[in-house]
Amino acid sequence: MKVNIYPDYKTLSRSTADLINSYISAKKDSLVCLASGHTPRGVFDCLIDDVTSKGLDLTHCTFVGLDEWVGIPAHTKGSCRAMMDEDFFHPLQIPKDRIEFFNGMASDLNAEVDRINNLIAAHGGLDIMLVGIGTNGHIAMNEPGTSFETLAHISMLADETKEVGQKYFATSTQLNSGVTLGLKHFREAKLPILMANGEKKAAIIQKTLTTLPVESLPSSVIHLIDHGFVMIDQAAVK
Ligand code: PGA
Repeated sequence: MKVNIYPDYKTLSRSTADLINSYISAKKDSLVCLASGHTPRGVFDCLIDDVTSKGLDLTHCTFVGLDEWVGIPAHTKGSCRAMMDEDFFHPLQIPKDRIEFFNGMASDLNAEVDRINNLIAAHGGLDIMLVGIGTNGHIAMNEPGTSFETLAHISMLADETKEVGQKYFATSTQLNSGVTLGLKHFREAKLPILMANGEKKAAIIQKTLTTLPVESLPSSVIHLIDHGFVMIDQAAVK
């Protein structure tokens, strides 16, 4: 893996967007998974700028959702889909048929898992997978203890994730489980990027970078990914 440290969030976001932009410019029909949440919003702003004023063409890309809260409707503020719609899909007017997202309200969640696993397999794997990191080291909703061999699956959320996840919602929200891409997807993506910014991520970034790969720390999977990128700002490497 390659660790790149930037002086601030703005340059971190621009450089992460540049990695994504270069990849898609070379492979226009990329299968792209971008995390929702607060970390990548600067990257989205840069990509929106690239599309609107620098000729980046996303019309042949297919976008796959990284994860979703089980039991939260897609239109509810705080759902992963709602965040992606607001921050990325709607500003770019990405057509619905170019977006494949977990439905956290599905009556058959196993079928949802199969649908997304099959879709990714049919494309020969993900091209780009941009993820953030939880303060407990989770990647997407792969909580501590998740096998590095997992594909998409239903996940029981860690208490820390349920608590921290409240920040996305307008009112206190019951969070129990999620449906998520797996760590094997991350390992096998052609361009896997782990991104983190800010002091609140410094402790987990230090732990991630100094811990040998162990399933009790999902983010440590990055050590197994030679072609992976860790993109962080100075505040996250205190
Ligand atoms: P954040 O979430 O980008 O909102 O900090 C990251 C995560 O929990 O994976």
